[in-house]
Amino acid sequence: MGSLTSFIKRKIFRINRDRWNYQYDKGLWEGLKGLDELARFSVIVGYVKYLKPGQPELLEIGCGEGLLQQRLQPHNYGRYVGLDISDSAIRNAQAQADEKCTYLVADMDKYQPVGAFDMIMFNESIYYSRHPLETLQRYATHLKPNGLLLVTINDHKHSDELWASLKDGFDLLDEATTVTKTTCVCKILLPKGVKN
Ligand SMILES: C[S@@+](CC[C@H](N)C(=O)[O-])C[C@H]1O[C@@H](n2cnc3c(N)ncnc32)[C@H](O)[C@@H]1O
Repeated sequence: MGSLTSFIKRKIFRINRDRWNYQYDKGLWEGLKGLDELARFSVIVGYVKYLKPGQPELLEIGCGEGLLQQRLQPHNYGRYVGLDISDSAIRNAQAQADEKCTYLVADMDKYQPVGAFDMIMFNESIYYSRHPLETLQRYATHLKPNGLLLVTINDHKHSDELWASLKDGFDLLDEATTVTKTTCVCKILLPKGVKN
């Protein structure tokens, strides 16, 4: 796409996909691959292995370039589906995918998952939904019995408010905070009333 067209789509029409593609193509999210992010990914990998050992079916929303799937390694899942609004990010994710992975370009606010999952993960992505609580509740209907949601939110001035807005729909099974250059909270949530 020409740079003028890209500029108009990003800045004037404010098209989300173009904004994210631009940022990935410029390498603005390379930092996610760095040492500072290792603790956040390691906590998630630990939760998946502990809470859903074996061959769980995993769905990751806003998966970016597939860093979580790469850190998990294929023996820790039976099926992995990753979706992201950026086709640039998904192209890079696909380049490192194995046969158990499906990567899709889609908007989390519109996408309808196919099938049911043991864990559905929003790793630094729930902020980008227009209606975070409704989005989590909608995706939660695609959990298997005893399925879990995993949500991470980086500490920022609205993060307490965001967690508070999610609280009513879910019970908290566990949480862990990682502190590197940034502070990130990872919570394991289950739809209210479900015993695990
Ligand atoms: C901060 S990045 C996190 C990427 C990845 N989860 C990680 O931790 O490496 C947020 C991701 O959410 C994606 N995203 C933003 N809005 C989205 C939407 N409406 N639907 C799907 N993905 C979206 C972006 O393209 C980006 O890859």
